[in-house]
Amino acid sequence: MRHLMSPLDFSVEELDRLLDLANDIEKYPEKYAHACAGKILATLFYEPSTRTRLSFESAMLRLGGQVLGFSNAASSSAAKGESVSDTIRMISCYADICAMRHNKEGAPMVASRVSGIPVINAGDGGHQHPTQTLTDLLTIRSLTGHLNHLTIGLCGDLKFGRTVHSLINALVRYDNISFVFISPEELRIPDYIREDVLDAKGVPYEEVERLEDVIGGLDILYMTRVQRERFFNEEDYVRLKDFYILDKKKMKLAGPQLLVLHPLPRVNEISVEVDSDPRAAYFRQVQYGVYVRMALILTLLEVEV
Ligand code: NCD
Repeated sequence: MRHLMSPLDFSVEELDRLLDLANDIEKYPEKYAHACAGKILATLFYEPSTRTRLSFESAMLRLGGQVLGFSNAASSSAAKGESVSDTIRMISCYADICAMRHNKEGAPMVASRVSGIPVINAGDGGHQHPTQTLTDLLTIRSLTGHLNHLTIGLCGDLKFGRTVHSLINALVRYDNISFVFISPEELRIPDYIREDVLDAKGVPYEEVERLEDVIGGLDILYMTRVQRERFFNEEDYVRLKDFYILDKKKMKLAGPQLLVLHPLPRVNEISVEVDSDPRAAYFRQVQYGVYVRMALILTLLEVEV
């Protein structure tokens, strides 16, 4: 039985197959409409979510399966003190696969060790968010045709943003990738990513503070929200929250090939005036998220179509 804790749980070849499957689902959705009939997905969300949880539920329903779960820790037995391990043992009797989001780093991993069903990490604290990364990879590959030879700018909260951490981990395995990290001093990427992932693989990167200075050289601009819930004090958040605002003026400095991605939710970091720019791909990204989660459910349940 396989779980998904990190994008590295799949080899590059396995990822290619998964993304191919997602593209096939996009083209021929009717072929997959009953593939998971009789199967149940549990969504165990201990932390707020709109997109990820509903995207998982939509994915399972579009495969002909069913869903159950909870969307907030207060309405689950966690409020009575139940451990994640006990919860997952019980859920294993109710469902065939589950997606778990938790505010504690490593909670889905703990669950996977005792689970009788595949566990998908749907975001654990400031650590990883592998299914957002699958979404990002599918979006980039579908819209550019490849995952090699890219200069990727990641902008905003690179310290607490788990989508950023997972995406860097996944992209360093492709050829000729370079990164531009755009953040205020306080929100730079963690040292463990700089040392264990980037330096270890000899991947080129630069760290800058001003988006205007680098936007012209980027193929992908991955904007992120300042992660308010992970700050120790509100003053720091207020000081940093509007550090970056991508607007039409900055988009004028970018090339025609640029794709703007964002895991969403957006707060202020992308002005709504950018939404109509053909280079804004963040709402198309949401749609790819459903296809890739459908492909992931099929893969982990070993359903052949
Ligand atoms: C992201 C997350 O939860 O980490 N959202 C999402 O799942 N699409 C990004 C965020 O909350 O800023």
